[in-house]
Amino acid sequence: MENLIKKFPEGFLWGGATAANQCEGAYNEGGKGLSTADILTSGSRTAPRRITPVLEEGTYYPSHEAIDFYHRYKEDIKLFAEMGFKVFRMSIAWTRIFPNGDDAEPNEEGLKFYDNVFAELKKYNIEPLVTISHYEAPYNLTKKYNGWADRKVIDFYVKYCETIFKRYKDVVKYWLTFNEINALTMPFGTFIAGAIMPPEGNRELTNVSLNNDQIRFQALHHQFVASAKAVKLGHEINKNFKIGCMIAYMCTYPLTCKPEDVLLAQQKDNLSNFLCSDVQVRGAYPGFAKRYFKENNINIVMEEDDEKTLKEGCVDFYTFSYYMSNCISSDPNQEEIGGNLSMGLKNPYLKASDWGWQIDPKGLRWSLNNIYNRYQIPIMVVENGLGAVDTVEEDGSINDDYRIEYLREHIKEMKEAIADGVDLIGYTTWGCIDLVSGTTGEMEKRYGFIYVDKDNEGKGTLKRIPKKSFYWYKKVIETNGEEL
Ligand code: BG6
Repeated sequence: MENLIKKFPEGFLWGGATAANQCEGAYNEGGKGLSTADILTSGSRTAPRRITPVLEEGTYYPSHEAIDFYHRYKEDIKLFAEMGFKVFRMSIAWTRIFPNGDDAEPNEEGLKFYDNVFAELKKYNIEPLVTISHYEAPYNLTKKYNGWADRKVIDFYVKYCETIFKRYKDVVKYWLTFNEINALTMPFGTFIAGAIMPPEGNRELTNVSLNNDQIRFQALHHQFVASAKAVKLGHEINKNFKIGCMIAYMCTYPLTCKPEDVLLAQQKDNLSNFLCSDVQVRGAYPGFAKRYFKENNINIVMEEDDEKTLKEGCVDFYTFSYYMSNCISSDPNQEEIGGNLSMGLKNPYLKASDWGWQIDPKGLRWSLNNIYNRYQIPIMVVENGLGAVDTVEEDGSINDDYRIEYLREHIKEMKEAIADGVDLIGYTTWGCIDLVSGTTGEMEKRYGFIYVDKDNEGKGTLKRIPKKSFYWYKKVIETNGEEL
C-alpha cells in the first residue's frame, strides 16, 4: 500500500479574512450610505450591543472608524503580502455601491475604491475572495422595507450583484453571496443578517428573541432566491466565476450516547447547518425543513418560479466559518456555554476561550468530513481563529503563542481531513488584522496576526504591529503547511 499523503495540495489558497463593516471605517465618506452595522453600538462580554434606530449623540459606534482600512488598505495589504497571502477574503460594503440600497444608479466613488483595493492585491498576486453581503445592508432598506422580510429586496440585491460582477469581472474570480446565511435560522441573525428591525424593547443584539420564526424563515427564503439569481447571473457575466455559499458551521455533539441526544444533535446539524447548504448546493429544500416548517406553522410564501430559480443557481463551492463546538442534550439541566451566533452546552473535554467559545480542533476535521461526505464539492474554511486579549510588551513585541497554538492545531486537523479525502482548497483565518468584533463590538477581542493600536473605547494611534504569529504564519505559508 502506498504511503498516506498528508499534505496540502499545490496551489492551496492560504490567507486571511475580514469584513468591510469591521475594518473599513469611513462610514460616511466617499458617498457611502448608512448601513445596519453603523447603527450598532459597542458592547462587551457582559453588555450586549444595542441597535439604535437613530444615531445617538455621544454614543460610540465601532464601525464608524473601525481600523480605518479605507485609508490604510495599502499598508495593510503590503503586510498581508509580506506574510505570503495567496488569497484575501474581504467584503464589499453594499452602501458604498448603493448608499440607500434602492438607488437608481451606483455610486462611482465607491466602485473606484474597490478598483483600487483589487489593483493593490493584484500587485502582490493576492487573489481576492469577495463576500457580497457580510452583516451589513443599507439601513434605508430596513427603514423602508423591513430588510429581507420584503421580497422587493431581492431585486435590489441582484442589481447590486450585477453592478459589481460587471465592474470587477476581470479582477475577481471567487465570490460568496451571503456571509453565514444560516444566521437567519437563529434569532441572533434577525437584525445583523436579515436587516429586520426588532420591536422596541428588544433591540439588544444577543437577546433578539423576537418570536419571529415566520418572518426570519421567509426572509431567509428571499436570500436563497437572491443568492441563486446572483449565481446564475454571475456565471452569465463570466463563466469562470466561482461562486460559493458561506455557512457558520455549528458543530454540535450529543452530550451523551443516549439515543435522544444523538437524534437532537442530528436535528441541530440538519436545521442549523444543512438546511441552508442543501438549498444552495443542491437547489431544493430538504424534507426535514418542510417538516420543521409544518410543525412550527411556518408558511414560506413562494412565487411560481422560485423552485426553478433555486435549482438553476447552485453554488460552485462550499465555504464555512469554524471557531468552536458545543454539545446538545435532552436533559434541560445541563450547563450552558457561549458560542458563535448561539449558545450550547459545555463539553467536559474541552477548554474555552475567554469569551466562552470551546476550542475544538478535532471538531474541524469532523465537520470537514461531515460536509464533504454530503456534497463532494470543493470546500474552503473562510473563518477560523482565536479571539483573545493581547499584551504589548515593553520592547513592543506581542507574543501570542496561544493564537499560534490554536491555529496550529486546527491546521493539523485540516491536513488530516485532506488525507481523509476532503477536497479542501483554501483557508482564510478570521481577522488576519485586528478588527471590530462582530458579536461584542470590542477591539480587544483580537484575532489578528497584525496588532492594531486601538481600544474598546476607540482610543489609540491605529498603528499596525506584526505579532509573533505573523512570522509563524509566514513560515506556514512558505512551506505550504509543512512547518507548523
Ligand atoms: C463570524 C462573523 O460569525 O464570526 C464575523 O462572520 C465575526 O463577522 C466572527 O467577527 C467572529 O466573531 P466575533 O464576535 O468574535 O467577532
